[in-house]
Amino acid sequence: MLSKTLASLLLLPAALRGVLAQNTTSGTACNNSPNLCDRRYNLVTYLGAHDSMFLRDDSTGFSSSGNQFYNSTVQLSAGVRLLQGQIQLKGNALHLCHTSCDLLDAGPLNTWLSEVKTWMDSNPNEVVTILLVNGPGASASEIAAQYNQAGITTSLAYTPSGSTSSQQTWPTLQSMINSGTRLVNFIQGLTYDSTTPWLMDEYTYIFENNYDISSPTGFSCAPASPSNVANQTTTALSDGLMPLQNHFLYENIAFGIQQPNQSYVTVTNAPSGGVGNLGDAAASCRRSYGRAPTYLLVDFFNVGPAIATADRLNGVSSPVGRTHVSTSILQESSAGALTPNGWIMWSSGLTALLGFWVL
Ligand SMILES: *[C@@H]1O[C@H](CO)[C@@H](O)[C@H](O)[C@H]1NC(C)=O
Ligand SMILES: *[C@@H]1O[C@H](CO)[C@@H](O)[C@H](O)[C@H]1NC(C)=O
Ligand SMILES: *[C@@H]1O[C@H](CO)[C@@H](O)[C@H](O)[C@H]1NC(C)=O
Ligand SMILES: *[C@@H]1O[C@H](CO)[C@@H](O)[C@H](O)[C@H]1NC(C)=O
Repeated sequence: MLSKTLASLLLLPAALRGVLAQNTTSGTACNNSPNLCDRRYNLVTYLGAHDSMFLRDDSTGFSSSGNQFYNSTVQLSAGVRLLQGQIQLKGNALHLCHTSCDLLDAGPLNTWLSEVKTWMDSNPNEVVTILLVNGPGASASEIAAQYNQAGITTSLAYTPSGSTSSQQTWPTLQSMINSGTRLVNFIQGLTYDSTTPWLMDEYTYIFENNYDISSPTGFSCAPASPSNVANQTTTALSDGLMPLQNHFLYENIAFGIQQPNQSYVTVTNAPSGGVGNLGDAAASCRRSYGRAPTYLLVDFFNVGPAIATADRLNGVSSPVGRTHVSTSILQESSAGALTPNGWIMWSSGLTALLGFWVL
């Protein structure tokens, strides 16, 4: 009896010390909230930036192929935790390009991965997910080489415990943070390679609703991919697949070509109000799945603001550690040709013209 009491007296301060040490070394918030630390990875809802690196801003001359107004670093600082994009070939090199590198080239894959790595190094309590569409069907080792060039190895990349979704048990965010393996990497169209198990095939772990929507009444929660669970919500969920809710709107321009619908995004990304708003759509998917979607994937993430819906699904009311970004549609400078690039082009054109006449 006496020894038991003595033991518990000795154990109590140790346990308290453990709790205090854990909070001081790792901070108290995981992904912007202390509420999320003890939640398993697959049960958190992450806001995702669709085509994260394809920008509609000064750097691309406000390209109509751009899906985001702010770059991946700004997205992460504002609370986005899923970065989605597309790999294409430029010559022999793996670049991030929107459909084609002639249309919109966001540079070499390893350069962008370095940008993400830099952000993660300065934000050690954050769990981030990357999802890349493998346009050219690059091998796992080719893609892994790009990650390694960016300094991303298995000390940062999460390695799943199971190679199928039903074998996989997702750890809590705190556990991923403690082990340092807090970058989760999915590739759509990956041939699994046992030497790089940390590069995960998307459809082994995730199902998605239809993404090709151009009417605000067209959003659906039914699984569309992978094809073996199309329209089979119960099977998709019982297989342990995580729901990814695509929620972005295209507009049709000439010849069957589509581009992101910017004018309607204030409704598309809104937490409530208006046909096809994100908040109502996510609530509807939560009812349909009996659980919240793991990922919400949107264009122009800052508008809405879309993150309000992720916070609501997570039950987070006072997020911490985010950098505020304007919720407006980013407008091209009204000075038009007088923006620095435009001015240089205009003045060098004039110089060429004058040169022609002078000569
Ligand atoms: C440490 O964090 C946990 C949750 O992560 C919390 O429950 C606990 O109260 C915190 N302890 C202190 C001393 O702040
Ligand atoms: C991202 O955008 C911010 C704000 O415009 C800028 O300061 C930063 O240099 C950009 N980062 C990269 C890697 O392009
Ligand atoms: C799923 O359901 C939709 C709507 O009912 C239908 O258009 C589509 O063809 C179905 N897909 C499959 C694979 O059954
Ligand atoms: C964008 O979507 C809205 C809502 O459906 C529609 O009224 C508008 O015409 C679309 N924009 C274009 C350019 O198609």
